[in-house]
Amino acid sequence: MSTPVKVTVTGAAGQIGYALLFRIASGQMLGPDTPLELSLLEIPAAVEAAEGTALELDDCAFPLLRKIDIFDEATPAFDSCNVALLVGARPRGPGMERSDLLEANGGIFKPQGEAIAAGAADDVRVLVVGNPANTNCLIALSNADGVPRGRFTAMMRLDHNRSVGQLANKLGKQVSSVSNMTVWGNHSTTQYPDLVNAKVDGSSAWEAIDDEAWISDEFIPRVAKRGAEVIGARGASSAASAANAAIDHVRDWTRGTSEGDWVSMGVPSDGSYGIEEGIVAGHPCVCSGGDWRIVEGLEVPEFSRSRIDASISELKEEREAVSQLGLI
Ligand code: NAD
Ligand code: LMR
Repeated sequence: MSTPVKVTVTGAAGQIGYALLFRIASGQMLGPDTPLELSLLEIPAAVEAAEGTALELDDCAFPLLRKIDIFDEATPAFDSCNVALLVGARPRGPGMERSDLLEANGGIFKPQGEAIAAGAADDVRVLVVGNPANTNCLIALSNADGVPRGRFTAMMRLDHNRSVGQLANKLGKQVSSVSNMTVWGNHSTTQYPDLVNAKVDGSSAWEAIDDEAWISDEFIPRVAKRGAEVIGARGASSAASAANAAIDHVRDWTRGTSEGDWVSMGVPSDGSYGIEEGIVAGHPCVCSGGDWRIVEGLEVPEFSRSRIDASISELKEEREAVSQLGLI
């Protein structure tokens, strides 16, 4: 067995934290041969609840889990960490958009970016889950001097998994028959789940559906508004599915994507697909050797172009708003 990987999870006492920690500790994220240490970060008022979760983690006797530390300050929580899951942030309630959280949550990610730069391990990899995730990721990376920008990613995987599920249901197929899904842009209602390039049983998903009206009027809005649908039904924002997506994201990033397939990740653009360089947006990514790269050369017809552009415009507005707040 190798040296333990140090995983820092913020918002450890929250809903997603509770659904996430046991799966990380059981090895579902980093693999069955990777021992790990957990570093939990919470606000002071929630430290006791995080301690309760730590008691339960102990009671699971997970063979891979070597140590649990709990902090209410970012600097020690991120010290020497290899993987950081930035979950801790306020969720939206009914009637809110995720961007309404910018002012409340944006301020969390500047000091966390600074703390990662100050003390995380050289190989640190960061996933931002707290909303609005793409712009919070931009804030964190903008304040992490010396850490390569590509080590910061935002979660589009829940949108990706939702798209796979909706498409498979519509066609009466198993989810495993769907591949090459991309959700472009922002984790918001402007996101664009792309059936032009997605495949079902290795062939075009667009042609399998053969119904543009369903794609534009039902599939895309259903996926894009799924978070609000869950909030409406549950009275609270998605938690287990979000935790599952975080596990999928980090697992594929660190252990590699399947041959011939790709996944949706919020990553800093390199300017490809006409997306302004540096914007943290959903892209199709292949992962190998612990690195991600944007898949090049996908088809972007006008149907896709206008939707991707609208989502990128929204991300630019969010960037302007956090710039006005002095966060980047
Ligand atoms: P929650 O309210 O249940 O838990 C959030 C936790 O974060 C709380 O325990 C709180 O004390 C803690 N916290 C707040 N500020 C903190 C800080 N500065 N440092 C450390 N911890 C802090 O919320 P939740 O349901 O777990 O959701 C967490 C976030 O994830 C929300 O912003 C939500 O909107 C977002 N989310 C994103 C996605 C996605 O796909 N990107 C999906 C679901 C939820
Ligand atoms: C989701 O997509 O379920 C989360 O981002 C929570 C939300 O606010 O919709």
